[in-house]
Amino acid sequence: MENLNVCTTLESLRKRLKENGEDSSMALVPTMGALHHGHLELVKKAMSLANEVVVSIFVNPTQFNKKEDLDNYPRTLENDVRLLKTAGNIIVFAPTVNEVYPEYYNDVNLELGDLECVMEGKYRPGHFSGVVNVVKRLIEMVKPEYSLFGLKDFQQLAVINFMVKFYNMDTQVVPCEIVREPSGLASSSRNKRLSLQDKEDAVIIHETMILLVMMAKTFSPSEAKKKAIEFFNKGTLELEYLNIVHPETLMEIDTWVPGARSCLAAYCNNVRLIDNMELITSK
Ligand code: PAF
Repeated sequence: MENLNVCTTLESLRKRLKENGEDSSMALVPTMGALHHGHLELVKKAMSLANEVVVSIFVNPTQFNKKEDLDNYPRTLENDVRLLKTAGNIIVFAPTVNEVYPEYYNDVNLELGDLECVMEGKYRPGHFSGVVNVVKRLIEMVKPEYSLFGLKDFQQLAVINFMVKFYNMDTQVVPCEIVREPSGLASSSRNKRLSLQDKEDAVIIHETMILLVMMAKTFSPSEAKKKAIEFFNKGTLELEYLNIVHPETLMEIDTWVPGARSCLAAYCNNVRLIDNMELITSK
């Protein structure tokens, strides 16, 4: 891996950062690899904020609640590194499991309350505990001034914001807009597992989100939700949840509030897809 110029240990990462001078600002883009346009937008934003950008590539075993999901997760390090090279002078940190979770590492058990009981937390028990552990660990290892996350994982972002506040961590969390394919499908590493037909079928997710934006002007959240589910179920995807939530508490709402979001998860031919959209502007 060394010939890809990838840092696989914390020691090699520190050395590399030192070479670049200690007083430069640094941004971290945590990823699990299988990089796509969405990740590149995070990298671009990171480059606009700091003069040094670290992209971590680590398929975190503790956030998968199904072993087959972990086993099937695409691992494309060489491609990822090549892609990042086209983006600029990026430091790639691809640690091993032992490097991230050495023997002396003790899991943190942050009480997330309702944040982990709804939506992704409800359907993927233990997922956010894994995310908290790995993101906390990565931030502590890399010590970035900025940490960038995509809004596509809206609930993850809420959990990370809570964690950073709770532990008073010295990093600024920077959210980045969802990147979409021309059809409206949100960019995701999982899209690689969709056939052309699946991709066509999956467009109903984006259509449902747009319909909700329009319905928010006329209907109450519960009416809009009901109509959106009816519309979604005319397609072929299997809906797991569609919630209209408060942007911070992630609780379902009865009346519209600024920043209200629709959040959805559905299966498209065994591939689990998520998406979300702001329904009432927060500005
Ligand atoms: O969003 C992801 O890719 C992962 O959950 C993250 C934040 C890199 C932690 O493993």
